[in-house]
Amino acid sequence: MSSASITDTTGHFVRTPRVGTFYESAAFFPMPVIVIVTCDAEGQHNVAPYSLCFPQPEAGDGMLMLISKRDSNTARNISATGKAALCFLPEDATLLDHCVELGRPAPPGEKMVRSKFTLQEVEGFSVIAEAEQVFLCSLEQFDVQADGKERRILLHVDEVMLQERWARALKRGWGAPRLAVEFGFRGQSARWLSRPRVHFGGPALRPTFEFSVNMSAAEVQESLQRALESQTADVEGFVRTGRAQINIPRAEATFWSPELAITIEDDGRRAKLHGRVGPHPQVWTLLMLLHLATAIIGGFGVFWGLSQWMVDQTPWAMLSIPGALIIHGLLLGAAFVGQGLGVEHVFRLRDFVDEALTH
Ligand SMILES: Cc1cc2nc3c(=O)[nH]c(=O)nc-3n(C[C@H](O)[C@H](O)[C@H](O)COP(=O)(O)O)c2cc1C
Repeated sequence: MSSASITDTTGHFVRTPRVGTFYESAAFFPMPVIVIVTCDAEGQHNVAPYSLCFPQPEAGDGMLMLISKRDSNTARNISATGKAALCFLPEDATLLDHCVELGRPAPPGEKMVRSKFTLQEVEGFSVIAEAEQVFLCSLEQFDVQADGKERRILLHVDEVMLQERWARALKRGWGAPRLAVEFGFRGQSARWLSRPRVHFGGPALRPTFEFSVNMSAAEVQESLQRALESQTADVEGFVRTGRAQINIPRAEATFWSPELAITIEDDGRRAKLHGRVGPHPQVWTLLMLLHLATAIIGGFGVFWGLSQWMVDQTPWAMLSIPGALIIHGLLLGAAFVGQGLGVEHVFRLRDFVDEALTH
C-alpha cells in the first residue's frame, strides 16, 4: 500500500524538548476543563477549575484520579466531606475567562464572592448550572502515592448527570456537547484553553454569531489583517475600523458562495465580534426583489379577482394567490439548496476567524 499521498501533504515534524510535566508544558495534550464544587465541614462552598483529572481503570470501575496542589481548598474540602461535583463547562469564551479568574489561589470563602457561576442543587450536591455534564463523586482514597508537592485524590463517580438534551443525544446515538478543552500551560500563567469557537444562530438564511475575545478591537483587526495577508490564507477580504469583510477568493466563488461581515466592538476590556454569513449582496438583493415582485403580482391578482367576482365573472385571477405562494416556496427552497451547496465555504470562513484570533 502506498502512503505517498499521506506523507506528501504533511508539514515538517520537529522535535520538542520534553520538559517539566511534558503534557502540560511541552505539548498540546487535550484535557478537560472541570469546575469542581466542594463544601467545607461548615457547608461553605468552593469552586475551582481543574484539568488533571484522569480515568483510573486499574483502581476499579468508575474511578478518577484528581491531582491537586497540597494546600488547595478543593483537596481540603474533599478530605473533610468526602464529596465533590465535577462540572464540565461548554466551550464558551466568557465562561472560560471566568474559569481562569477562579484558578488563582484565594482563601476559603473568597472564591464564592468572586464566582459568577450559578449554583444548583442536584441529588444532594451543589453543581454549576452552566455545565453540560456533571459527575457526582465520593472520595475513595486520599493521597494515593503521596508526593511532597501534590495530592492525588482517587474519586468514585457515583452519578453521571447530563443536561437533558445531551442525555437525549446519547440515547439516539448522535450529537454531543462542545466541551471546553485545555492544552496545558506555557510559562507561569499562559493557559491554552479551547479556541473561541463560533456558534451560529439567527435566521437560517443569514446566520449570525457573536463571541468575545480577550483582545482589544485594534488587536482583533490587526490579527484579521495579518491572517488575510498570510501566504496560507484561503480567503480574501478587507479590514476597516470596527468591521471586516471576508470572502471566498473570486476564482473559487460560485453564485451561492457566502460572505462574512463582521463588526468589532470594544468594551474596554474585551472585543466583541458580531458576524453575519450570507450570500453576496447582489444575490441577496435579487432574491429579495424576486420575493417582492411575487408578492406584488399576488396582491394585484387578489384585487383583480375581487373585481371579477363583483361583476359576476369567474374570478380566475385569484389563482395568483396559490401561484405566488408556490413561487415563494420555490425561491426559499432554492435559497436553502444554495446554502447547502455553499456550506463548505461557510465552514472555511468560520475557521478563518477561529485561526486568525488564536495566533
Ligand atoms: C483551566 C485550569 C485548570 C487547572 N487545573 C488544575 C489541576 O489540575 N490541578 C491543580 O492543582 N490546579 C489546577 N489549576 C489551578 C487551580 O485552579 C488553582 O490552584 C486554584 O487556586 C485552586 O483553587 P482551590 O484552592 O479553591 O481548590 C487549574 C487552573 C485552571 C484555570
